[in-house]
Amino acid sequence: MTGDPTHGPADETASTGTPQAAGESRPGAPSGGGAAGAQDTEGHRASAGLTVGGRVVVRYRLEGAGASATDFLGELVARNDDFLVVDTRSERVKLIRADVIAAKDVPPPASRPGRAHERVSADDLEKLMAGGWQALDRGGLGDWVLRASEGFTGRANSALVVGDPSLPLDKAIDFVERWYAERGLPPMFQVHGQPGFEISSDPTAAVLLDRGYTPGGGRPQWERVLVMTGLSAAVAPLTQESVPVTADAELQLEWLMAYGEQRSIVPGATEAVLTGSEGQLFLSVRDPGSRRITALARMAIHPGWAGVFGLWVHPDHRHEGLGSTLVSAVAMVARENNMPAIYLQVSADNAEGVAFWEGLGFTVHHEYTYLVRPVS
Ligand SMILES: CC(C)(COP(=O)(O)OP(=O)(O)OC[C@H]1O[C@@H](n2cnc3c(N)ncnc32)[C@H](O)[C@@H]1OP(=O)(O)O)[C@@H](O)C(=O)NCCC(=O)NCCS
Repeated sequence: MTGDPTHGPADETASTGTPQAAGESRPGAPSGGGAAGAQDTEGHRASAGLTVGGRVVVRYRLEGAGASATDFLGELVARNDDFLVVDTRSERVKLIRADVIAAKDVPPPASRPGRAHERVSADDLEKLMAGGWQALDRGGLGDWVLRASEGFTGRANSALVVGDPSLPLDKAIDFVERWYAERGLPPMFQVHGQPGFEISSDPTAAVLLDRGYTPGGGRPQWERVLVMTGLSAAVAPLTQESVPVTADAELQLEWLMAYGEQRSIVPGATEAVLTGSEGQLFLSVRDPGSRRITALARMAIHPGWAGVFGLWVHPDHRHEGLGSTLVSAVAMVARENNMPAIYLQVSADNAEGVAFWEGLGFTVHHEYTYLVRPVS
């Protein structure tokens, strides 16, 4: 296989804002006399690649007797030229970038027993996956993530219901409805639960159902989506007999055209979403004669995780092993880059797709539905 995973340029702004002002505390005293004006320190470089909205660990210089450095582990909620703001388990800290010694993105925490692909919580996996399919326009409401991308895909045009929206539910839903109205889009909510969960048992879904929202909004593929996960080590390796797979860090026009053969694309928005993650690879298999792309997939790259999006094999070439070969290629890149776990999303409505992933040893981690308000 050709190609390597790459990471895009760092995002210097917070991807989400919250309506409530959270308190900030400043741990320790800076040793470097403040950061204003000094924007090219080692600390700036060390913290440039961190993902805003992701989980990070930051080794930080302290002044005074005793410890000379300490580590902060938590969600990076904001970054600017001078500061990082990190929500640790106990407090929100504001760190001077010039005093950062080292920093890196880390996978979400283990919150239940199991193997690497099982022990993450559904909320944490949802937040991670949102970074694998970044919406063009993002907003925040407490922990909820509001996403808009000119209507291209449900994932990139729905409010991700995770954690606490920081407002009473009715007000939070009003806020989201206004946010989408301002963008000329119908409001849509992505609500998740255990496999087979009763949608009305989710408190947010219950309010939405009362307001006339329906699961899927008439699209069977949106009624129930399975989030499946597996171990990269458990996927069969590529062999000498495997068809050649190309992996490109850049989105090529041919790949986009083949992708557009099977689904409607929104020029501009589609390219932006496909290339919008911190790291992604575009994989393809070509017909040896015509050199046309016959199978493709997009791989999203996260700390500890790989994501598979848009896996597709041309109908004339199904059951030839191309789909499995692409997954083997994803797993190979994942293994080589310290990503033990792989996720994907597949509609429960897509029996062949679900069976394909089950055949490769993937299991359902959780499920979600899109709650859509009928057009009046
Ligand atoms: C799902 C999908 C990607 C599978 O791709 P594929 O290339 O047909 O998959 P494979 O050929 O690797 O495997 C499919 C089956 O063919 C079998 N197979 C593999 N090589 C084969 C060969 N040379 N001859 C006959 N059968 C073969 C596999 O064992 C597998 O059988 P199983 O389902 O009974 O276990 C394809 O059907 C597709 O593009 N569907 C539409 C998009 C989609 O649903 N994507 C997945 C959602 S994320």
